Amino acid sequence: MENRKKTVAESRAEHSRIIMRGDTNGTGRLFGGRLVEWIDMVAGVVARRHSNCNVTTASIDELAFISSAHADDTILLIGQIAYVGRTSMEVRVDTFVERLDGEKHRVNIAYLTMVALDWADRPTEVPRLILTTDGERAEFKNGCERAAQRKLRRGQEKKRENADEGSKQDSGVHTIGEC
Ligand SMILES: CC(C)(COP(=O)(O)OP(=O)(O)OC[C@H]1O[C@@H](n2cnc3c(N)ncnc32)[C@H](O)[C@@H]1OP(=O)(O)O)[C@@H](O)C(=O)NCCC(=O)NCCS
Repeated sequence: MENRKKTVAESRAEHSRIIMRGDTNGTGRLFGGRLVEWIDMVAGVVARRHSNCNVTTASIDELAFISSAHADDTILLIGQIAYVGRTSMEVRVDTFVERLDGEKHRVNIAYLTMVALDWADRPTEVPRLILTTDGERAEFKNGCERAAQRKLRRGQEKKRENADEGSKQDSGVHTIGEC
């Protein structure tokens, strides 16, 4: 049983950068995939700080892009632990675009599940989380629910994988897909 405890503040990470032409598509908008790379990196830093271990990304939730970001904009990513399980940590990363006039617009809120790995690359226990504000307590409670939902989805995915194995051959009956 892991006895260490850490606050949310101890592992918080911020990253800012100016968007370069190479980060954008032909119309000058930031590539979504590039932003996901930065979000994943920030979550990795937060999870490493919390666990003092190597970590891997198990899942990324919610990738809706709320406002666009363009070449020469400043992009700001803020990551912090929302919830911890036994070996997993849910990291929330908020992304904002900061225009030249200083105005900030939200681009994305992402929740990533990062798993701490031991020297043999096996999941290993992480420190408990000390919650110091009502906001952190609410985030943790919601994190518990999100983790339970993910577990449920994994069970369903497993069932689908097994079903896919048995459904690769043409059954001879052809129907039109309709909802
Ligand atoms: C993530 C990974 C280490 C989990 O390994 P595993 O053998 O399934 O381990 P467990 O079943 O013991 O799960 C370990 C923890 O991960 C969580 N987890 C596993 N799969 C998950 C998923 N798809 N989404 C969210 N959490 C997940 C479990 O809930 C558990 O958390 P807990 O200990 O806090 O309860 C393994 O699936 C893996 O290596 N995946 C590839 C990750 C990777 O390479 N990412 C980079 C991009 S490809």
